[in-house]
Amino acid sequence: MADPLSNSLDQPLPDGIVPQDIVARTEKRWVLLMVGMLVMMIIVIILTGVMGALHPSSNVETIDPTTLHLRGEFVESNLGTAIEPDGTVTVRLIAQQYDFVPRCVQVPVGTPVKFRLTSADVVHGFLLPDTNVNTMIVPGFVSEVRTRFANEGEYTMPCHEFCGLGHHAMWAHVRVVSSERFAEALSRRLLTPVERFTCASQ
Ligand code: CUA
Repeated sequence: MADPLSNSLDQPLPDGIVPQDIVARTEKRWVLLMVGMLVMMIIVIILTGVMGALHPSSNVETIDPTTLHLRGEFVESNLGTAIEPDGTVTVRLIAQQYDFVPRCVQVPVGTPVKFRLTSADVVHGFLLPDTNVNTMIVPGFVSEVRTRFANEGEYTMPCHEFCGLGHHAMWAHVRVVSSERFAEALSRRLLTPVERFTCASQ
């Protein structure tokens, strides 16, 4: 015998009320449908994460933003340009509302340069036009970007993440000079290669 409720829509409803067992059955179907969709979405997230090797874009290196000025890699005396033993250059900068510290850094042309950046307060951005350098600077993390400047010149670096009322005025400079000029500036200031270097060191 057919289920008398299978065509319930065709049947006249007593006093316009849907029988309770039909309501329960309909709700159960919707719940199953929702659970099915959730399970499917979670499977899609896991599959795309694993198959597409999705992960945060930078190296995941954490740092305490409240003690940057007190200890560790980003104390003031360690900011700016440094020459590594292998001849490459490392530039360390702090982004904060509304400045980069230091405001101007100097690097030699044609040399591998590694930028290491972190934020003291909110999310900032670091962008060098016409280069591969373009990263977010997130408090609590160190962003690392590697590049090599092909030409001498002055690169302006705007903060490109909205970080507050002074965001539009948050600019700094990378001055790319010839290796001779870089070495000369170093020697004129009697700096050893391990000492830090900014535009003011000229
Ligand atoms: Cu810093 Cu926008």
